[in-house]
Amino acid sequence: MFDFSRVTPSIPYILEGIGITLQIVIFAAIIGLVLGILLALCKIGTFKPLKWFANFYTSIFRGTPLVLQLLLIYYAMPQILGFNIEPIPAAIIGFGLNSAAYVSEIIRAGINAVDKGQQEAAKALGVPYSKMMKDIILPQAIKNILPSLMNEFITLNKESAIVTVIGALDIMRRAYIVGGETFRYLEPLLIAGGIYYVMTLVLTFLGQMIEKRMRRSD
Ligand code: ARG
Repeated sequence: MFDFSRVTPSIPYILEGIGITLQIVIFAAIIGLVLGILLALCKIGTFKPLKWFANFYTSIFRGTPLVLQLLLIYYAMPQILGFNIEPIPAAIIGFGLNSAAYVSEIIRAGINAVDKGQQEAAKALGVPYSKMMKDIILPQAIKNILPSLMNEFITLNKESAIVTVIGALDIMRRAYIVGGETFRYLEPLLIAGGIYYVMTLVLTFLGQMIEKRMRRSD
């Protein structure tokens, strides 16, 4: 059933996909985190138009398939912009915008979970809103939401496999190509699965490390 000998020469080719996948995931995670924080602040704020915008944003990006968003950015955006966009930047934008919707909800929940007395105390002491958020509320919120945030990064890492639809040569696409060339899909797909699994294990480990470090300050 298994015959890895035909696939062995292609293993380095599949492994090279790790770089592409990581590139997409890391940049998308950064965009998702920054944009997610901004959106969460809009949601908990009192300025109605920003609140509406942030909620609308989340409902659109969470309410439509990610694969559709990717296809829109890659194939349909050029129609609006007038120039083509490469698969990797398109993927980074697509995953980043999508992840921001999820991250904003995670962060909103985290901020709301911080005891209200903290905000009241900061206000009573005359701490400005931005400083209160940055130095008092967000650090506590981040600590509580770290597991959910790690979950989001793990999801992002695995969901990145669908960039194959816009042709980025990530792990998944490479495994698929090798399958097509060797007429054996089982082995390359299992190899790809193993790589994603190890990446998830590493992310989980990193998450636990960060969590431990943050608990130290308790
Ligand atoms: N498969 C889902 C979709 O198509 C995944 C969305 C991404 N999820 C996430 N937590 N970033 O919408």
